[in-house]
Amino acid sequence: GAPIDLDLAPIAEGQAIKLFWRGKLIFVRNRTKKEIDEALAVNIATLRDPQTDQQRTKPGHERYLVVYGSCTHLGCVPLGSAPGEPKGEFDGWFCPCHGSHYDSSGRIRKGPAPLNLPVPPYAFTADTKIKIG
Ligand code: FES
Repeated sequence: GAPIDLDLAPIAEGQAIKLFWRGKLIFVRNRTKKEIDEALAVNIATLRDPQTDQQRTKPGHERYLVVYGSCTHLGCVPLGSAPGEPKGEFDGWFCPCHGSHYDSSGRIRKGPAPLNLPVPPYAFTADTKIKIG
């Protein structure tokens, strides 16, 4: 599929949206200050799939996190994007299939999943606009 343009302005702080690109589910979250601070405070040496939060966001746009919405264990859709859904123990996403917890950077923190939720290719084209792909 072709790249898609997405306006992030309607995503309230603390909320996330889901969309499909190339047949794959993608989550876009507008993170709260607390969620960003938590993601930055992690000692990456303790992580199963060590990545800094900076490696997973774009400079100057740290409030936004864009990840594929497929658990890296067996591909279930993690909860945590819709209001009221459990975000797991690390303010990110929780996969109900076998109990994987992802943090507010989409990194695997607990449970059987081996890898972080991957970040798809995207770039900012304006302050609140991205092009995915
Ligand atoms: Fe998510 Fe197994 S598919 S924990």
